[in-house]
Amino acid sequence: MTEALLGGMKPQQFLDEYWQKKPLLIRNAIPGFQGLLTPAQAKELTADEDVESRLVHAGNDGWDMINGPLRKRDFPRSGPWTVLIQGLNLLLEEGDALLRQFSFIPFTRLDDLMVSYATDGGGVGPHFDSYDVFLLQGLGQRRWQISAQKDLTLLDDVPLKILKNFSPTQEWILNPGDMLYLPPKYAHNGTAIGECMTYSIGFRAPSARELSSAFLGFLEEKLSLEGLYTDPDLRATPTPARIPDEMAVRVAEMLSRIRWAQRDVTEFLGQYLSEPKAHVFFDPPHEELSPAAFKRAALTNGLRLDLRTQMLYAGGKFFLNGEVVIIPAADAKAFRRLANERTLSELKSLSQTGWDLLSDWYADGFLHLQQKM
Ligand code: SIN
Ligand code: CO
Repeated sequence: MTEALLGGMKPQQFLDEYWQKKPLLIRNAIPGFQGLLTPAQAKELTADEDVESRLVHAGNDGWDMINGPLRKRDFPRSGPWTVLIQGLNLLLEEGDALLRQFSFIPFTRLDDLMVSYATDGGGVGPHFDSYDVFLLQGLGQRRWQISAQKDLTLLDDVPLKILKNFSPTQEWILNPGDMLYLPPKYAHNGTAIGECMTYSIGFRAPSARELSSAFLGFLEEKLSLEGLYTDPDLRATPTPARIPDEMAVRVAEMLSRIRWAQRDVTEFLGQYLSEPKAHVFFDPPHEELSPAAFKRAALTNGLRLDLRTQMLYAGGKFFLNGEVVIIPAADAKAFRRLANERTLSELKSLSQTGWDLLSDWYADGFLHLQQKM
């Protein structure tokens, strides 16, 4: 990242003073930034069924939203509208590179890069998000109004989240390269001034409900309690419909054997947070090299993770696209580098097991040979 990205602040200062605390407007965060896509390219992406997109407009009878893939006739002929495209980092090298400028924040918090394209006056209405977001202006201008209001009541009967009462306390017009950071639950409203494209770098903050339900699923797979319910001391009952107190006590005792340690939680996080999103699929190489040819090419060219690959680690454990992977200790340093930097060119000292893993990941489309410069 460059000094300009956080307005000259060091990442730690930004984290201490603003992250999850208060908004920050950064003029010229990316000097000369013109965006990554033209409006025509953005519209084209919304027609693709593998791309997550939405069209939002405020019609005569209120807010309207259509989920992609979008057809030509879905776009209103008049009046302002916005299209939103999720996961741009999974589609474009430049999108991934933009996201990685924020690598001072752990990948476990990273969600995705979204882009919006709006016609004059377009926007998605006043709302709040449940995640931290950097709103980076691409093409054109957008007026952002924000409010620290506590009233987050939403309109009923609309297909998207719109605040019932929005009382902006600050507003700015953002030009290309300007960026606004907003913590979760901060009310905001963006309105396009002329044709406008805005890039949202979003950070996931999973809810306790989401985590607990996923963790219980993880435990279920990991756990196998032994034994069978027993009651050799059963007494004859005149009230057979009643749940016996002794049964509840014994079952509570059986269930109390469900235990987990910090390392189980870390393993759960590694699997859960590296799991690709539902619509993500990997493409194996068109002309797959044999393992020996792959090794020769990798030693010369180096490797890079696919844009869609999520690789995390904790201690000696590695997680790749939702799976735990055991890496030989001697290779751990190289694999940690691959996870952090997403490329690897120092491959000479890898063990055969390390090569076998890389070869499998290459065949699965999880990683690729780097293009030779
Ligand atoms: C937009 O870019 O129009 C919406 C982004 C947001 O408000 O989170
Ligand atoms: Co928002």
